[in-house]
Amino acid sequence: MNSRILTGITTTGTPHLGNYAGALQPAIAASHDPQAEAFFFLADLHALIKCEDPRRIQRSRLEITATWLACGLDPCKTVFYRQSDIPEIPQLNWLLSCVTAKGLLNRAHAYKAVVSRNGEEGADPDAGVSMGLYSYPVLMAADILLFNAHVVPVGRDQVQHVEMARDIAQRFNHVFGNGQEPFVLPQARIREDVQLLPGLDGRKMSKSYDNTIALFLGSRELKDAVNRIVTDSKAPGEAKDPDQAHLFSLYQAFASAEDSRQLHGDLLAGLGWGEAKNRLYLLLEQTLGDKRERYHALMARPDELEDIVLAGAIKARKVATPVLESLREAVGLRTFTGISSAKVDSRSSARRERGSRLVTFKDENGEFRFRLLDANGATVLLSRGFADGITAGTFGQRLLEIRYPDLRTYGQMVSLWLDGEALAHSDVVHDTVAEEARFRAALDDLS
Ligand code: TRP
Repeated sequence: MNSRILTGITTTGTPHLGNYAGALQPAIAASHDPQAEAFFFLADLHALIKCEDPRRIQRSRLEITATWLACGLDPCKTVFYRQSDIPEIPQLNWLLSCVTAKGLLNRAHAYKAVVSRNGEEGADPDAGVSMGLYSYPVLMAADILLFNAHVVPVGRDQVQHVEMARDIAQRFNHVFGNGQEPFVLPQARIREDVQLLPGLDGRKMSKSYDNTIALFLGSRELKDAVNRIVTDSKAPGEAKDPDQAHLFSLYQAFASAEDSRQLHGDLLAGLGWGEAKNRLYLLLEQTLGDKRERYHALMARPDELEDIVLAGAIKARKVATPVLESLREAVGLRTFTGISSAKVDSRSSARRERGSRLVTFKDENGEFRFRLLDANGATVLLSRGFADGITAGTFGQRLLEIRYPDLRTYGQMVSLWLDGEALAHSDVVHDTVAEEARFRAALDDLS
């Protein structure tokens, strides 16, 4: 079976080298695997949790779309869409919210980090925590589970969220699965060979540390950014330890193994930092130059980008709509008629096939009676009382042998006669003729 990989990028910023090496590049490489079916999306609903600047949200969605395409994402071979174009995602979000324990979300790292910071600052524990932030992992579970993704490539900080999606899926399967498993349990995939890319100052490259190098800087700006990378103060000619230098880590993330070995040796032998920076700059130019040109060409054609993501949404919803339909069925949000719903409840359809039937029961006075029920489960006849269940059952079975039922009408009630006495009666009805017809149909159905 094909495996389905799915990942999203939160659209709050401009993509940087860390995003490229850690997420974009490996995801696009994985999408070239013919065995894989790739779903990539812009997590723009998640973006609203972190950002209240509409212009930045809009700009970032456009930039990230152009970036994916410029970096080689093929929208014909993948399903590439905006989260906010798929209404089934927030709908599933609600179904999942209803089976997600609050305690599970209390344990989410992102939420706990805010609470502990508030504690250190003596603020209210929930200061600055929106319901969006708190429920972030549920929305992410909806992203993943709606498409029954097997593999979710993510950064280390997101692994807990994928595990929560598994927990939530298991819970839903248990409560509503009815012996089946509506959801596939997803697996996080972290690229072990990509350590977190360091930023200008050596800490993880991240917007929150303001130490990033944007992916598509112009040549000049790129050169300036590389020159700002912090190094130790060893002079040219002095031996340098490449494994302690984040300049080298950055180089290694983009270079071939052979070029990496070369720079490693040269630094040990005393290569100056200025020259090392120049090599990194040239390498980045060579890796990203063409992509940058494609990126700018795409950014100049927002209509085309819009068409591409809308076509992606149509593909995504082909998968999502029937999935959501069957989940609605599973939780009991069904049509009243059962006609247009995807799956009719299995018990009621079995009953329909079986037609009418007999049930024997003990009434409030301790007597035994049988009922003849029609195909919809409505009572057609209620028998007189018998001393024991076996006799009631035996008389009921005799209905199967009746070829010409002796039906008699008294006032607004219809009775079935057998062996010279009234065996069973209808309710009081308006239309005794219609009721007789119902009896005959139910008796026919039975035999
Ligand atoms: N939370 C992810 C991040 O910030 C983005 C994301 C949203 C995502 N939904 C997802 C990633 C579903 C993988 C699968 O990086």
